[in-house]
Amino acid sequence: MENNKLEQLWKQMTTREKLGQLLQLTPEYFGCEGKTQLTGPSGLIPLEERDFGLVGSVINCTDAATVERIQRQHLNRSRLKIPLLFMADIIHGHKTIFPIPLAMACSFEPDIVYRASRIAAVESAASGIQVTFSPMSDLVRDPRWGRVMESSGEDPLLNSLFSAAAVSGYQGEDIAGEESVVSCVKHFAAYGAPEGGREYNTCELTDQTLEESYLPAYKAALDAGAKMVMAAFNTLGKIPAASNKHLLKDILRDRWKFQGIVISDYNAVSELMAHGVAKEGSEAAALALEAGIDIEMMSTNYLDYGEVLIQCGKLREEWVNEAVFRVLRLKNELGLFEDPFCKLSREKEKEKHFCAEHLRISREIARKCPILLKNKEEVLPISGREKTGLAGPFAMSRHVLGGWSAGNEEGISLYEGLCAQMEPEMLVTAACGELGSLLDGKTDIPPFDEEDLKEAFRECRQVIVAVGENQNDTGEGASKAVLRLTKRQEQLIHVLKAQGKKVITVIFSGRPLELAPVLDDSDGMLQAWFLGSESGNALADLILGKACPQGKTCMSFPYTTGQIPVYYNHLRTGRPREKMGTGRYASGYIDCPDKPLFPFGFGLTYGKGRIKRAVLKKDTQLWLDVTVANEGNHALRETVQLYIMQHTASIARPVKELKDFCRAELLPGEEKNIMFRIRAEMLCYPVAGEERFEPGTFTFMAGLDSENVLKQTIDISREDYEWIKRKDYE
Ligand code: GLC
Repeated sequence: MENNKLEQLWKQMTTREKLGQLLQLTPEYFGCEGKTQLTGPSGLIPLEERDFGLVGSVINCTDAATVERIQRQHLNRSRLKIPLLFMADIIHGHKTIFPIPLAMACSFEPDIVYRASRIAAVESAASGIQVTFSPMSDLVRDPRWGRVMESSGEDPLLNSLFSAAAVSGYQGEDIAGEESVVSCVKHFAAYGAPEGGREYNTCELTDQTLEESYLPAYKAALDAGAKMVMAAFNTLGKIPAASNKHLLKDILRDRWKFQGIVISDYNAVSELMAHGVAKEGSEAAALALEAGIDIEMMSTNYLDYGEVLIQCGKLREEWVNEAVFRVLRLKNELGLFEDPFCKLSREKEKEKHFCAEHLRISREIARKCPILLKNKEEVLPISGREKTGLAGPFAMSRHVLGGWSAGNEEGISLYEGLCAQMEPEMLVTAACGELGSLLDGKTDIPPFDEEDLKEAFRECRQVIVAVGENQNDTGEGASKAVLRLTKRQEQLIHVLKAQGKKVITVIFSGRPLELAPVLDDSDGMLQAWFLGSESGNALADLILGKACPQGKTCMSFPYTTGQIPVYYNHLRTGRPREKMGTGRYASGYIDCPDKPLFPFGFGLTYGKGRIKRAVLKKDTQLWLDVTVANEGNHALRETVQLYIMQHTASIARPVKELKDFCRAELLPGEEKNIMFRIRAEMLCYPVAGEERFEPGTFTFMAGLDSENVLKQTIDISREDYEWIKRKDYE
């Protein structure tokens, strides 16, 4: 529809019709109970019959037949025939499920998220979904928070690259394209920093921390073209995000010039009352609209009070008009006025959902995400020709998709995956009782008998023990205070070790768990995460050596929960342990190590990578020239990482920050050179939206993780910086 026609339509709308466009409801309101996954508090908000035809969009309707039915019914009720927009949480796949986002970030390959999001777009567009509430670009430092599974970890560069890749994948070349969905980046802002890791809790950050660590990924998603933003639930600086003008106006609209739609999170406008910044619904509506929330998700304050607020001068009509115009514009850009059923196709659903090609790619991607945390005496990979035990709650479990898998039930279990590639009689199973969810009051696996175990695994030298946490105990509303494996799972590992087995611990979880208590008794340790539809097949590929693990931790694994938050890019202290020694007055703990169990960027491969040399070179550019070697007997896939530290500046700078990384594939005995080009932006930090460079001493570090690095230190003057900057543009 041409813009002037859109304007004409808009002019015909009553205020109430406009307010309706700003309302988003679940399919229940359209007589489709049970056709949706509830993602917030249940209970229908009363809505009068006459208002049904006004609603602007629908949340979490996930199949073509239902979308079609609701749209048809709606067009009969809507006076001006304004089609609905359908939005849903397509987080790591629609039907074909990919690894959870945290796992995909451990690949250090943003391209896999691009590919997964592209497929998710193809599958969900066929189901009539036009917008996905993804990516979640929230930086995270606290694995107690259940939603770390949806994030890409603790590093702003990784967060930014993965967010941008997701947006490009979802939206494709053109959002109106048949195989594209609009991306809504969330949760703006800092939702990933709840105090104590407790869901929906207060966030307190300095402006500078927000600026440096938390904002970059949202910005990267917008730079990649994301058309929508979801405001967060939390308060930041004591103002809830849904009424936070500093975030939504100063930063989002004024500084970043964002033109798209801002949507509240589920019921978040009403929750302004629970936060205690609005006395009643009318006040909540006025605050949210003024701050810049265009669409109200699952509460009806705009519709209930909007007209009265305008009449009594408490709400400027132009705020409503702007919001409505943004909604109509997106509907128009998607071509919905011409064809309200565009993209939707039941045939295509049949053809594309779970098609062989998508499953093949899901498996390929899933292989890149697990992290090899320990491999004593090269217990992994196993040959598959010797009797191997398989135990633990995730040995046979098909509940391995990970949260936010919208109505999908099962993936390939580890057992099925191994059986497909080994003689089944080579696998012996015992103590495989599943682990239920804490939310259902299930606190541990069924008891097992030590003698029975001994008997069952009599002929096995090695046992794979698949442990972890129930997938429902991760994700939204699943904060935990204790991150240890359950007692019986830890016992299972200890008992098998005591029975003289080589123990290969495989961990299924949506967050870094506390693994120190089982580290010594595990000869091998593979962090599997939740890998989606092809989970067991991908794990079998790694365990049997058909593929080489390449995952690197994108979040530090705490030694113990009491260390949290523990992250690699922290500031220095006045009394660092390294300088103060073991004496009393150093920054650290007296009852546990200061460092995490596994630092950011860590992960082994089947080969043996080593950084042999890292030298700064200045010719036509400035480079860090790094030599990496494979000193093991297997081919390897390594991720070489570049970190930079600025020694002195007008504000304290982190001990190191990831600035670049590069994949290296090496055969046994092979060596390669990697040239990291130093760009001007790597030497700056942001202050109020501007990049600031301060001359001084910089240390450049190359490592295969963030702890063990080779260093080179130089002074960089303003002239040097200007020279580097000029080179960036040449
Ligand atoms: C929520 C979530 C958000 C999601 C929304 C819609 O409660 O916080 O991430 O997109 O509901 O399901």
